[in-house]
Amino acid sequence: MTKKIGIEDLRSRKWFMNPDNPEMTALYLERYLNYGLTRDELQSGKPIIGIAQTGSDLSPCNRHHLELTKRVRDGIIAAGGTCIEVPVHPIQETGKRPTAMLDRNLAYLSLVETLFGYPLDGVVLNIGCDKTTPALLMAAATVNIPAIALSVGPMLNGWFRGQRTGSGSIVWQAREMMAKGEIDGEGFMELVASSAPSVGYCNTMGTATTMNSLAEALGMQLPGSAAIPAPYRERSQISYETGKRIVDMVWEDLRPSNIMTREAFENTIVINSAIGGSTNAPIHLNGIAKHLDVPLNNDDWQQVGHHVPLLVNLQPAGEYLGEDYQHAGGVPAVIGELIAADLLPHPDVITANGKTMRENCAHLRSEDTKVIKPVSDPLKAEAGFINLKGNLFDSAIMKTSVISEEFRNRYLSNPDDPEAFEGRAVVFDGPEDFHHRIDDEAEGIDEHCILFMRGAGPKGYPGGAEVVNMRAPDYLLKKGIQALPCVGDGRQSGTSGSPSILNASPEAADGGGLALLENGDRVRIDLKKCTADMLVDDAILQARAEAIMAAGGYPVPESQSPWQEIFRDYVGRFDEGMTLRGATKYQDISRR
Ligand code: FES
Ligand code: MG
Repeated sequence: MTKKIGIEDLRSRKWFMNPDNPEMTALYLERYLNYGLTRDELQSGKPIIGIAQTGSDLSPCNRHHLELTKRVRDGIIAAGGTCIEVPVHPIQETGKRPTAMLDRNLAYLSLVETLFGYPLDGVVLNIGCDKTTPALLMAAATVNIPAIALSVGPMLNGWFRGQRTGSGSIVWQAREMMAKGEIDGEGFMELVASSAPSVGYCNTMGTATTMNSLAEALGMQLPGSAAIPAPYRERSQISYETGKRIVDMVWEDLRPSNIMTREAFENTIVINSAIGGSTNAPIHLNGIAKHLDVPLNNDDWQQVGHHVPLLVNLQPAGEYLGEDYQHAGGVPAVIGELIAADLLPHPDVITANGKTMRENCAHLRSEDTKVIKPVSDPLKAEAGFINLKGNLFDSAIMKTSVISEEFRNRYLSNPDDPEAFEGRAVVFDGPEDFHHRIDDEAEGIDEHCILFMRGAGPKGYPGGAEVVNMRAPDYLLKKGIQALPCVGDGRQSGTSGSPSILNASPEAADGGGLALLENGDRVRIDLKKCTADMLVDDAILQARAEAIMAAGGYPVPESQSPWQEIFRDYVGRFDEGMTLRGATKYQDISRR
C-alpha cells in the first residue's frame, strides 16, 4: 500500500479532532461514545468506515448482509479502522409496490446525504438485490469518498424433481404451464418456491447477478467477489478481506472517480454482453456514469457491446445457475477469457484492490466450459444489445441473444428481408389494461400482431414497470405460439428471456411517439438498420399529437404517495439513466 494521505487529511477529523473548534468536537464526540466507542477509536487517526447496510427483514435478498457485516467489521478493525453501520432505505425487488425501481433514486438520495453529512472516511457498499447495487454505486459516485462494494452473493441453485429451477425465470415458465393447464395454483407455488432454497439474491442471470457482476467488472469489488453464493464460507472470507481493503483504500485515496472511468464503463459493457446481462443494466450503468460526469448512452452499448459473444450459460439465456457460475470461475474467468481473445478494450484500468484488471484476471480461464464458454466456442456470436430508433421513440434496447429459434423462424425468415418484420399493433395502456384484454378473443390478436405496452415508463408508472415481456393470449399458447414481438416504454425483468424492445425513451407520458400509436397501425421493425417505425402518414401522426395535447397530454394514473409525485416531477428518461433532474450536477461532494 502506498499511503497518499495522512491522519490530518482524514475527513472525519473535521468532526472528531478539530483544533479550531474544541466545543463542536466535544459535541460531535460525546454521542458516539454513548454506546461504547472509545475516544481512541474516534480520535487517534483510525479511518472511520461506514458500512452501507441494505440487509433487513424487509429485504430478504440482502438480509444475509446482517451476518456478513460481522466479518466486514473484523476486517476493518484488523486493518486499523473504526466501523459505523449506516442504514440504507430498504429495497426489495419483488415485494415493493408499485416497483422497487421507484426507490432506487430514493435510496440514492438518502445515502448521499448520509455519506456527505456524517464523519465517514470510506464506505463498504452492501449490494445484492437488483436496485440496491445501482443505488449504492450512484451514491458513492456523487459523494466520491473511497468505496468498495460487497455482494451478498446469490442463493444456492434451486431444484425441482432433478431439474434446476432459477428464481424469476421459473415464474415465466410456470405461468405458461398454468395457462396450458399443466399445473394448478398449488403446483405453481411449489415450483416457484423451489427456486429460492437459501439466503442470497436471485440465482439466475437476472438483474441482481448482472449488476453484482458488473460492480466487479467496473472494478468496484474485490476480484472474484461477485459470484460466491451467499451461504459459502468464501462469502464470509471475502467480507473480511473487503473490510480490510477499504481501510487501505482510504490511505491510498482511491476513489470511485479513479475506478469508474469511461474506460471501465466500456469494459463493463463488453462484460455485460459476455455474461448475457439484464436489459436493466444500461439504465443503471448510464445512471451511475451520469453521476460521475462520464458520457455514456445506449449508442455506446451497441457500438462497444453488440459484437461480443455470449460466454456465460446461465438462465434465462442458458441452462445453469449461480453455484455453477461460481464453480466455473465467476467474473474473473469471464474477464480472463475476454482478455485472452483481446476483447476487453481496457485491461489496464485500476480496480478496488489497487491492481489492474489484467493483473487480476489475465491468467484465469473457465474452470467448467459448459458454464463459462471460451470465446472460440461461444453460446451466441453476438450477444450485446442493439439500440433501436424511429418515429416510435429515440432509443429502445433489445437483447438479441435471447431471440429463440421459434421467434426467428416466425418473424425473421423472409429471404428478401431477413432481419425485419412488420405487424399489426395491439396497444395496451399499462399492465392492468393488458390483463383485461389479452385473452379476449374479440381483440383478434393473432401471430401477425406486435404487442405494445405504454404508460409503463418512469413517469407513466412511477419508476417504470417490468411488464413489456407480455405473454401471448392463452388461445395462441394452446396453438403452440409461445411469444409475440413485444415493444414498450416499460422494462422487463432480467430473469425473463423474452426478446422484447424495451426501455423506450422518451416514454408515452413524456411526449414519446408511442403515445401516437393506435390499435391496427402497421409497424415495421428492422433489426439490421435498428429502426422501429409506425407506418402511418406524418399528417395523421401530427393530428393525433394535437388531439392528445388538446386533451391535456397522455393520461397517467394519479400518484399514490408523496415520493411518487416528487419523483415524477424530477425524473429523467430511461436511456439517460433515469436520474433526477438537479442531482447529476453534484460531483465529488465529499471535498466540500
Ligand atoms: Fe431480490 Fe431477485 S428479487 S435479487
Ligand atoms: Mg426486476
